[in-house]
Amino acid sequence: MSPQILDIHVDSPDDNGAAMRQEIRSGLQAMGQKTFPTMLLYDNRGLRIYDDITTKASEYYLFGAEEEILKTKADDIVRTMHASTGVSHGQVVLELGSGSLRKTSHILRSLANVAQPASSQTPPITYYALDLEQRELQRTLEGINHSDLGPMLEGKVSTRGMWGTYDDGLKYVQSGGLNVPAPQIPLDRTRFSRDFVSDERDRSPHSDSQSSAADDSPPSTPGETQPPLHILFLGSSLGNFPREDGAAFLRSLPLRPGAGDTLLLGLDHDNEKGVIEKAYNDSQGITRDFILNGLKAAGRVFGDEKLFEESNWEYVNRYDPKTRIHEAFLQCKADHQVKDPSDGSILASFVKHELVKMEQSVKFSDTDAYTLFSESGLRPVQRWTDSTGRYSLWLLERPTLTFPLLSSAISCNRQGLLVPKTLYSSSTFGVPSPQEWENLWALWDLVTRTMIPPSMLFQKPIDLRHICLFYLGHIPTFLDIHLTRLLKEQHTEPENFKDIFERGIDPNVDDPTQCHPHSEVPSDENDWPNLSSILGFQSRVRQRVLDLYKSFDTGARTLDRKTGRVLFMTYEHEALHVETLLYMLLQRAGTGTLPPLGFSPPDWPSLKDSWATALRPTSSTVKLGPAKLTLGHDDIESEDATATDAREHEYGWDNESPKRTVEVGEFRIEWRPVTNGEYYKFIKEKGGNLPASWVEQDGEVQVRTLFGPVSMDTAWEWPVIAMYDDLSRYAIVKGGRLPTETELRLFYDLFDSGYEGGSNVGFRNWHPTPATTGADSSGKGSNGGVWEWTSTVFDAEPGFQASLLYPGYSQDFFDGAHNVVLGGSYATIPRIAGRRSVRNWYQRNYPYAWVGGRVAYDVQNCSI
Ligand SMILES: C[S@@+](CC[C@H](N)C(=O)[O-])C[C@H]1O[C@@H](n2cnc3c(N)ncnc32)[C@H](O)[C@@H]1O
Repeated sequence: MSPQILDIHVDSPDDNGAAMRQEIRSGLQAMGQKTFPTMLLYDNRGLRIYDDITTKASEYYLFGAEEEILKTKADDIVRTMHASTGVSHGQVVLELGSGSLRKTSHILRSLANVAQPASSQTPPITYYALDLEQRELQRTLEGINHSDLGPMLEGKVSTRGMWGTYDDGLKYVQSGGLNVPAPQIPLDRTRFSRDFVSDERDRSPHSDSQSSAADDSPPSTPGETQPPLHILFLGSSLGNFPREDGAAFLRSLPLRPGAGDTLLLGLDHDNEKGVIEKAYNDSQGITRDFILNGLKAAGRVFGDEKLFEESNWEYVNRYDPKTRIHEAFLQCKADHQVKDPSDGSILASFVKHELVKMEQSVKFSDTDAYTLFSESGLRPVQRWTDSTGRYSLWLLERPTLTFPLLSSAISCNRQGLLVPKTLYSSSTFGVPSPQEWENLWALWDLVTRTMIPPSMLFQKPIDLRHICLFYLGHIPTFLDIHLTRLLKEQHTEPENFKDIFERGIDPNVDDPTQCHPHSEVPSDENDWPNLSSILGFQSRVRQRVLDLYKSFDTGARTLDRKTGRVLFMTYEHEALHVETLLYMLLQRAGTGTLPPLGFSPPDWPSLKDSWATALRPTSSTVKLGPAKLTLGHDDIESEDATATDAREHEYGWDNESPKRTVEVGEFRIEWRPVTNGEYYKFIKEKGGNLPASWVEQDGEVQVRTLFGPVSMDTAWEWPVIAMYDDLSRYAIVKGGRLPTETELRLFYDLFDSGYEGGSNVGFRNWHPTPATTGADSSGKGSNGGVWEWTSTVFDAEPGFQASLLYPGYSQDFFDGAHNVVLGGSYATIPRIAGRRSVRNWYQRNYPYAWVGGRVAYDVQNCSI
């Protein structure tokens, strides 16, 4: 039986022809660089030649590299693809630009291995190959069905074609082409629903959380739903899009936030120039034929294959390492003109040596790849790289929230979709936009409403802090108090929340009776406000924030420096509390805390495998200094009253100012923080307590994660999270010490890739990862997603002025017991992890915060 092929063209063939003629015309009549549409390359003949490139041109490493990954890792990939949803019946695997299907066969085989045979007529998985040429689709799908794979797929994976363009395919899915009757999904009763929460004690008949600031999910077609969708986009095909268009294309993919839909994407690395140029100009001239074939295809669109005479052209190519783009051109051999056969008008004039661009192949450094994903609202779940390190396959998902780049003009809304930011500041660290607030609220709600089961609301995951419920009330109360003071208005009701929730506790670890001033909280569970009243309050306070922005827009209120400061401060306060709440919740992961909803659970065995092969630095330390550097910035709160630059100003916490210049001598410092593995061996040898980030279960030491404890083996290479006193002892036994604030700052300035460069901060993962610093020639990378201890005691720097809005923020901790920590963890939002002046601090023997450490050495003592 011949394969079923759906014609998904949105426009009729006549319209398509007219559109392509117009595209060719405008490309050849462009004032700047002339171009032919790349799509011309993939006619029936072009696809056959492309197949020859992949099988006969050994220089074209991309195909072999991707094939190697798929041959060896397809089972891992398919397993990871289904981590969230399992292999559900009715799922669709859709391949964009499927080509020869040779590599795809490995995925199909693994899909057949995991699919349960169908009990009904329909196999559980449907694979669609989407491409431009119907005949090629027919041929390649028949090839699969008649190969040894055919019988393996029977009853498990049905294979079909979609004939059309990428855009046609996406429109087909978006308009419900794949939809199936909606299953009755049982509610997960262990979690709060996103829009309303109720617990046993909550007897209120209604909730205010349904107000306009509450959840507003998009409507869905009643009775129908898009099936679980896994998109494959292989062959470095995304590289044919201009870089910015690539992100826009990925944004447009119909992957639903938090639904377990995935994208498997092949990206070529920014390899060496010579290697790339040879890959696209093989010694047998097959790529040359492929590109020249585009001329015939262009002519055919105008009804004459010979319209663009091949003998007038030759093939040239070049790779620019700066832009990381390879370009394939046709170069004109002689001046000539081409006429439009339909009316005899001049279609294009060419001069000798002129270049007409036929194709570009964008390459991706790690930073480029992370930029692309962040700008597309996608999260890398896992990455597989070929054995030569030239090419990667990335499995991506669209989680319920992502943080776009700091420099981005977009933000993530509460449905996990990307929306334009309305900017109220030209500074990266200025007044947060309303969309950034929405993103933060999505994060806060994710943590408080999906990770804390009702049974834990009245529990303290760690001593030294309040019950979980306190923090749900504290965040809106803090915000409301500051808005009330600023606007000189009434408090949001109920007003007495300010007496219960204004300030949390942060007792001295050694003597918990010593505590800074804090609110008196009820001692009896029954005296706490109920949850729905807290959420109703939260919703009204959020609305108050949004109304404030509206008042700037209407001109009813001016955005002055002080107003901006209140917005900055309350925003970052909430973000910092997400992290502190999470480190509390970590202590109950596996015994109470639920994993984050809408993020795929990690496939630890395959992650462990890929971490084991990651590159390491060739030496363990790097020598730095002497150097002079500037710490902090100038954000003087006492100038707020007279300043007129609220929309340009960079805000920070009081301890970040003023700017100061410091000097640092020569020192050596480890490329990477102390790992779990190193610390485990150290404790075995020298004794010592287990850090609070570990847990002993059934006689085995495991490492805590928000998904539950994992084996020490899995987390061996992650930075260890431990208190200062323990890491300082480790460093001293190793013959070194923990670095000073200035030394660590200098290291970060030189080698930390930051969120924009792919660091493990900003909720890219919900667990640490192995550090990557020091592995390549730039040395840049991530420390694995932890703050880092410094030996610098937290104290007032010269010129320090306590915040007027929040006087105790820093100065309450200038007690000699706290040390400065720098950087940020996987649960620090990019804005805080990325502001160079940020200093955080913890008590030296506080065990819970997500802080690691690296060893520094005085140069004269260093034998490494
Ligand atoms: C670089 S090849 C990759 C083929 C295959 N995925 C592989 O990895 O070997 C690009 C594929 O995408 C198809 N293609 C190119 N532009 C397309 C478009 N706009 N819509 C649909 N398919 C397209 C081509 O026909 C070709 O099969």
